[in-house]
Amino acid sequence: MPEDPLRRETPVPQRRHLGAAAVLTLTLPLALAACGGGGSGEDAFEADPDALQIYSSQHRNVTEAWAQAFTDETGIKTQVREGQDASMGHMIVEEGDASPADVFLTENSPAMTIVERAGLLAPVDQETVAQVGDGMAPSSGQWTAIAARSTVLVYNTDLISEDELPTSIMDLAEPEWAGRWGAAPGGADFQAIVAGMLSDQGEQETQAWLDALADNAEVYQNNIATMQAVNAGEVPVGIMYHYYWYRDQAGDKEGSANTKLHYFGNQDPGAFVSLSAGGVLASSDMADKAQQFLSYVTSSEGQQVLVDSGSMEYAVGTGVESDPALPPLTSLDAPPVDPFTLNSDDVVTMMTDAGIL
Ligand SMILES: [Fe+2]
Repeated sequence: MPEDPLRRETPVPQRRHLGAAAVLTLTLPLALAACGGGGSGEDAFEADPDALQIYSSQHRNVTEAWAQAFTDETGIKTQVREGQDASMGHMIVEEGDASPADVFLTENSPAMTIVERAGLLAPVDQETVAQVGDGMAPSSGQWTAIAARSTVLVYNTDLISEDELPTSIMDLAEPEWAGRWGAAPGGADFQAIVAGMLSDQGEQETQAWLDALADNAEVYQNNIATMQAVNAGEVPVGIMYHYYWYRDQAGDKEGSANTKLHYFGNQDPGAFVSLSAGGVLASSDMADKAQQFLSYVTSSEGQQVLVDSGSMEYAVGTGVESDPALPPLTSLDAPPVDPFTLNSDDVVTMMTDAGIL
C-alpha cells in the first residue's frame, strides 16, 4: 500500500500565503471521486495526540479542503480519519468515551443519529447553529448540517421523453418499470433516501417499494456507476444524488452527455434532501478546538470552501451561494421529512429482508 489512507495529517503551513486557493487547486482532481473512501487498513490508524481528530465519512476532497483551510486560518493541526457512514458511526459508538475522535463529519445524517442516540455528542455552540439556515440543525442542538444534497432521477434523453417519466419515485415499483431503472442500494447515499421514504411513507409502503426494487431494478455499485449506465443506455432512468451529475457536466460530460436530471418536487419522497452532518464528541479532549472547527465549517468562509471545492453539494450557511449551476435548494419542494430522526439501521434491516443487501 503506497500510503495509509486513514492517516492524513494536515501540515501546518510555514507561510500564511500558502492558503486555501493553493490547496483547492491541488484537491480539485479528487472532486470526481465517489463517496465513502477509506475503510481499509483501520488497524493501522494511530491518532496524533497533538492533532484535532476529525473522523469523516464525507467526501475526502471536501473534508481535506476544510481541514487544510482551518489549519491555515488557525494554526491548529488536524488529522483526518476516513471511513464510511454507518461503519464509522458504529465505530465511534464502539470506541465510546475512549474514542480519539474530536469531530465527526458524515456524508448523510443517519450516521450522525447513530452517535447521537448513543449519547456521545456534545451540544453544538449556539453561534455555530445560528450560522446555518432554518431547519439545518436538529432541535436537540447536538449537531448541525454542513452540506445538503438532493435526490434526483437521471434519464437518458434518447430512450425516454420527459412526459414519460414517473411522477413519483414510488411509481418505480409498478410493473411497467420492471428492468427499466437503476439504483445503488448498497451505499449510504441510497439508504438515506430510503430512510427519508420510511419516515414519509411508513413501513408498509417502503417495504413494498424495496421488494419491487429487488425484483425490478438494475443494481449498480454507486451513484456514478448508475449515472454512467443510464448514459450508456443500459436503463432509461436511475436514482442518484444531484452533485455527481453536475460534477460530470462541469467536466468532460463523459458519464452524462446523453442524460438530463428530473426533479420530482411536489414533496415526493424522491425529492428528499439529505443533510451531511457535523458534530463534536462529548469525550473530546480538545472540545474548544473541535467547536472552533465546526464553527469554521459552517461559517461563510468555510461554506465557500465547500462551494469552491467543486463538490457541487449545496451550501447550508446563511448568505452563502451554492454553485450557480444548481437550482436553488428552496425550489426543490422536498418532502416534509424530519432529517434528525432518520434511522439507517431500520433501513438496512428492511433491505436485508427484501434480499437487496
Ligand atoms: Fe456522495
